[in-house]
Amino acid sequence: MNQLKIRGGKKLEGTIRASGAKNAMTKLLVASLLSDKKCTFHNVPDIGDVEITLNLCREIGSQIKWDKENKTLEIFTPEVKTSYVPQRYSGSNRIPILMIGALLGRTDQDIIVPTAGGDLIGARPVDFHIRALQSLGARIEYREMRKEGAYFAQAHQGLKGTSIVLQYPSVGATENTILAAVRAKGTTVIQNAAIEPEVMDLILFLQKLGANISIHADRSIHVRHSNAFQEVEHTVMTDRNEVLSYAVAAVATKGRVFIEGAEHLHMISFLNKLREIGGGFLVRKNGIEFFYEKELTGGVHIETDVHPGFMTDWQQPFVVLLTQVKGTSVIHETVYENRFGYVQMLKAMGADIELFTHCLGGKSCRFASSNHLHSLVVKGPSPLQAKEFSIPDLRAGFAYVMAALLSPEESTISNVDFLDRGYEDLVGKLVSLGADISRHCAPPVAFAGG
Ligand code: EPU
Repeated sequence: MNQLKIRGGKKLEGTIRASGAKNAMTKLLVASLLSDKKCTFHNVPDIGDVEITLNLCREIGSQIKWDKENKTLEIFTPEVKTSYVPQRYSGSNRIPILMIGALLGRTDQDIIVPTAGGDLIGARPVDFHIRALQSLGARIEYREMRKEGAYFAQAHQGLKGTSIVLQYPSVGATENTILAAVRAKGTTVIQNAAIEPEVMDLILFLQKLGANISIHADRSIHVRHSNAFQEVEHTVMTDRNEVLSYAVAAVATKGRVFIEGAEHLHMISFLNKLREIGGGFLVRKNGIEFFYEKELTGGVHIETDVHPGFMTDWQQPFVVLLTQVKGTSVIHETVYENRFGYVQMLKAMGADIELFTHCLGGKSCRFASSNHLHSLVVKGPSPLQAKEFSIPDLRAGFAYVMAALLSPEESTISNVDFLDRGYEDLVGKLVSLGADISRHCAPPVAFAGG
């Protein structure tokens, strides 16, 4: 197992290039399983979740050529050799469940996928996925296996388009339904669909592939049957979570970082909040520059939400930034019920943060009558003391890295595999910005795999 050692207190300064988005790339690979034509991807991030997804595709029969230096990957699945995804992938990430959507239209064999994993940031059920696929005519059941459970799915009679209303605009359920709907007979209408940029990237890829998908102003997505596919070349969108992570780290360390490839359109709600607290940014021709220019002042209220709202994956690094800002700010997490697990460690480092079970702010969310600690009040500025951290999930992991970058003593961070799943060359990028960070081998600790 690897550990990171970080001695903070330095400004981050320089230029980095944003990597391809984890939450787009992994779905694009699954989408490629819909066709028997070659798909070529550019800007492919070399991260753990892409490796896991490629292994899942290899199990199915994909042939893969990955030129890591040029960030280009070819995937070609001439036939589905098996539609059984082995149990060893159980809990690996969120991807196995999405393979049902892609494979239902590709094969009439039984499909078996292990239970979905991912970060432990809430219950993360897959009921919306299952209900949507069942509405299209799939038979799906959950069965206990010798060690873990698995989903058994089949559509021996084929899938048939229908109208589906998602109870919540779930990213994964929208993607899974789109994948299944591409080959379903007739037209599928997905109402209350997720419209995150990663979903749009998937739709762009599918349109190139041969699908007929339209997005409507009422948040509905219409998918018409298609089964004539062609070879595709697609450049994966850049990772807006990675961009935000380095952006807030630049401002918090009073530095200046230009992020090449950062997409303005994907960052609007974040840029507004950054401006509200006095953080600096300049949108340039080929990216965005982030910098500290004056004393930062709190008093912001942030409600995480589905797109185009402030992303749930952004709140962790932003909360670390708010610990360095003068004044009191409020965050209301409305997407996941349990995404403040990292706060305890920040408090132990000296942050002044209080957690609440009520919805603090304008709206009452799905967790209003639950006992989940899903709102917080953060007061700053507070100096942060170095600590030994064990990372609980990917985004919390970057929050700890940021906290360590703000503390002049040495911090040690273990469970680095979580960061490797989503941040390409984290150490190399931070070193290039002047951070004192290094990677070491340490004795193994348990790994429980966004
Ligand atoms: N939900 C259900 N039932 C379902 C599906 C979702 O109740 O069948 C609930 C979830 O429990 C959650 C909410 O709906 O409370 C939203 O979940 P969603 O399905 O939108 O999330 P996801 O598809 O599992 C993706 C990203 C997450 C990101 C969210 C929200 C991937 C692999 N993961 O998860 O990214 O936070 O969308 O934008 O795309 C990360 O990258 O660290 C990460 C966790």
